Amino acid sequence: MDNVYKPRVVVLTGAGVSAESGLKTFRDNNGLWENHRVEDVATPEGFAADPALVYRFYNERRAQLQQPDVQPNPAHKALAKLEQALGEQFLLVTQNVDDLHERAGNQRILHMHGKLLSARCCKTGRAIVWQDDFDDTTECRCCLPGEQMRPDIVWFGEVPMHMDDIIMALAQADVFIAIGTSGQVYPAANFVAMAADSGARTIEINLEPSQQNSLFDEHIVGRAGEVLPEFVADFIEQYC
Ligand code: APR
Repeated sequence: MDNVYKPRVVVLTGAGVSAESGLKTFRDNNGLWENHRVEDVATPEGFAADPALVYRFYNERRAQLQQPDVQPNPAHKALAKLEQALGEQFLLVTQNVDDLHERAGNQRILHMHGKLLSARCCKTGRAIVWQDDFDDTTECRCCLPGEQMRPDIVWFGEVPMHMDDIIMALAQADVFIAIGTSGQVYPAANFVAMAADSGARTIEINLEPSQQNSLFDEHIVGRAGEVLPEFVADFIEQYC
């Protein structure tokens, strides 16, 4: 029989969750930032200075995401199972801009750093599905001609998306689980402290201790695709 009470679970994911699907992380050896100046490709100033370069960078990442061999891995699938078991008690907050969580089946998901498969109007902020022919000359289709479209990505110096909903969820969480994130980028790096302040049990699942490692109650070291399926199966058996 189902337990009557299911814990409220907030999961935060980072690039490590998609690493086993063949997508590069940012700060690991040979990571995305190794060959690029962050200022050039991931700031509003970089976009203003050279939009063509920024479009090239994100178009390459989008093309990679659409390669047939880039598919959800067992970590993504385990999180979809966890959502299925917990229903409305579950929220997935991701820093990832890929769509692998959705492809695995997650629906209760907030992309705090935006989405690779979406573009938005520089003036109104209205987002639309990315079209393959978008480049730095593409004009916005939602307002006056002359406005530019940009990748729907939160760059350094910009405020992440959905922060009100995320803060509210963290304040109510019974369990907070961070997976595959180095804990170097704020405000996501603060979520463990916020969840702990609310009395949540906090768990880190990562290939190596993250920068926030000492703030977590529990640690699981390993590849997400290998350790998460068992963790989720145990969790569901215990609580759902
Ligand atoms: N399983 C679990 N963890 C892994 C795996 C794996 N298979 N592979 C790598 N990792 C871990 C790394 O050890 C590292 O701690 O995932 C983490 C990835 O860290 P980052 O590259 O810093 O990525 P992330 O934390 O998601 O970056 C946050 O920074 O540049 C911005 O906007 C970008 O959303 C991104 C944000």
